[in-house]
Amino acid sequence: MKNEIKQVMITEEEIQSTAKALAERIDADYAGEELLLVGLLKGSLPFMADLLKNIKSKCKIDFMCVSSYHGGTVSSGRVNILKDLSQPIDDMNVIIVEDIIDSGNTLHFITKYFAAKNAKSVRICTLLNKPSRREVEIDVDYIGFEIPDEFVVGYGLDYDEYYRNLPYIGVLKPEVYAG
Ligand code: PRP
Repeated sequence: MKNEIKQVMITEEEIQSTAKALAERIDADYAGEELLLVGLLKGSLPFMADLLKNIKSKCKIDFMCVSSYHGGTVSSGRVNILKDLSQPIDDMNVIIVEDIIDSGNTLHFITKYFAAKNAKSVRICTLLNKPSRREVEIDVDYIGFEIPDEFVVGYGLDYDEYYRNLPYIGVLKPEVYAG
């Protein structure tokens, strides 16, 4: 798998210290309040775990499974909910946890979906942000890293469902997805 990675963009250590710093910011912002972290599967799984274990506020977690890439490298713009929330979110401070925001289609869909519910507040925390690819405007409250327009995998991010288990963010060699 390593042979298919052109370069390491963000190391495991950089990810760990950023997850800790984001958790500290969240704790400070919500001092004394309860939180509900909602991870968007599957990509957010490792980031959700690292963020969660650094958060000291009283919190619950939930997951949604959504998909819009359907195996390709470009967003289809069509977001499917494969697994919904498992609890009501009325009067809760929700933080949606994402691995990456690219076109913004996924979070555009999800924020509209959450707006129809009675949460006390809804914010977004993403490990990676790729602003150059944005198709729809998204307000993002917590960002780990702004990255250039390269096809990245690892630490939850996939190509064709592979590479999620790499502990770092790497740039995939173009020949892997070109062929
Ligand atoms: C990826 C990623 C984000 C979304 C971001 O999910 O995890 O949810 O794409 O892209 P966007 O801003 O262009 O919508 P994907 O649909 O590939 O599902 P996955 O999390 O199961 O990999």
